[in-house]
Amino acid sequence: MKQTHSCIPLLHFMMISLPLLVSSQICQRFCGQLPLKYPFGSSSGCGDPRFQNYVNCNRDKLTLTTHTGYYPVTDIDYSNQVIYISDPSMSTCACTQPSKGFGLNWDAPFSFHDDNVFTLLDCSIDSSSPIYNGNNNNNNSSAAPLCDKKGAPICSFLYSCSAISMLNRPISTCCVYTPVDLGPAFNMDLKKLQCSSYSGFYSFSGQEANPENWKYGIALKYKFNVYNDYPSSCVTCERSNGACGYAGDYNSFICNCPSGVNTTTDCYFETSFNNAPRLLQLPWQQKTGNWLICIMAWILIWQLNNFPPRESSSKKKRDRIESKNKNFISILLWCFKITRHGVHITL
Ligand SMILES: *[C@@H]1O[C@H](CO)[C@@H](O)[C@H](O)[C@H]1NC(C)=O
Ligand SMILES: *[C@@H]1O[C@H](CO)[C@@H](O)[C@H](O)[C@H]1NC(C)=O
Ligand SMILES: *[C@@H]1O[C@H](CO)[C@@H](O)[C@H](O)[C@H]1NC(C)=O
Repeated sequence: MKQTHSCIPLLHFMMISLPLLVSSQICQRFCGQLPLKYPFGSSSGCGDPRFQNYVNCNRDKLTLTTHTGYYPVTDIDYSNQVIYISDPSMSTCACTQPSKGFGLNWDAPFSFHDDNVFTLLDCSIDSSSPIYNGNNNNNNSSAAPLCDKKGAPICSFLYSCSAISMLNRPISTCCVYTPVDLGPAFNMDLKKLQCSSYSGFYSFSGQEANPENWKYGIALKYKFNVYNDYPSSCVTCERSNGACGYAGDYNSFICNCPSGVNTTTDCYFETSFNNAPRLLQLPWQQKTGNWLICIMAWILIWQLNNFPPRESSSKKKRDRIESKNKNFISILLWCFKITRHGVHITL
């Protein structure tokens, strides 16, 4: 960026009058800090239609929507196809709060990651509890069929958090679910389970005994399609700075290009039209290359102005000076544009 400003001091002033290079790309390639790639899209028509109903970008916040609520997406692991969400109603080592639970819609293109551990907190242990009444002649609550006995230490660690110990309930009211599928409905209905809150995490962060550092939230896996292959049309689209989307009655693939144009292939055409010089150069040459062109154009114009035709009147002379100034200004604008592009590419 420094180079752009040092081009000519005038540029600084001229930037104000320059139309800003506003991107009219409807499908954003970032939502806040999160990069957006297939199958996710910022809004309707972007990404994959199966995911669009569930994941949206709203005011720079990517959100997963299910029938139980709205959940901020905290991270996306594109290589392992996992999205991480947080649940604002969830209890963690730092705070406990009542929750209604969490559920995925039955038709949502997500499934629970095996790393998830859900801990139901403050559950009723009387005979009406669906968790603990598995066997009527057994009054030993830790033998409840729904709870993972191997997970019992997780309850003890959570109970070492002051926020959770403040629930002031016996540890037997804590039930660990893992591995998790939340039953056929993918639903953890805490009201039905007679628990007041829950906690969920997907990593111990290597410190099993330190619940303060666990990664609270929910990890969800996703698949692109039944064969789980990244559509090749989308690979080239994204490589050319496009965003994958869909349109029409059949939700057919479109590539939404930085200029706002939609194509059925990719955005390389834009690159070749708008930035022809850039195609002639290797990436490390781009800045220098643009500067060379810039300087050469200046020299050319300067030369042309040094061999003016003879003026017959002072009016013609004035016109010539005016057009000379115009030429200088358009070269300046053009210089600014190509060097700015160079900076764009190398960033
Ligand atoms: C390009 O596609 C997007 C997503 O389908 C749509 O919202 C937008 O209106 C289209 N733009 C043009 C210029 O057709
Ligand atoms: C639980 O079982 C023990 C014997 O194993 C029995 O003495 C006790 O009364 C039972 N408690 C309840 C609440 O049923
Ligand atoms: C209750 O279950 C735990 C864990 O399975 C076991 O260690 C304990 O002995 C049981 N208590 C009774 C009274 O059956």
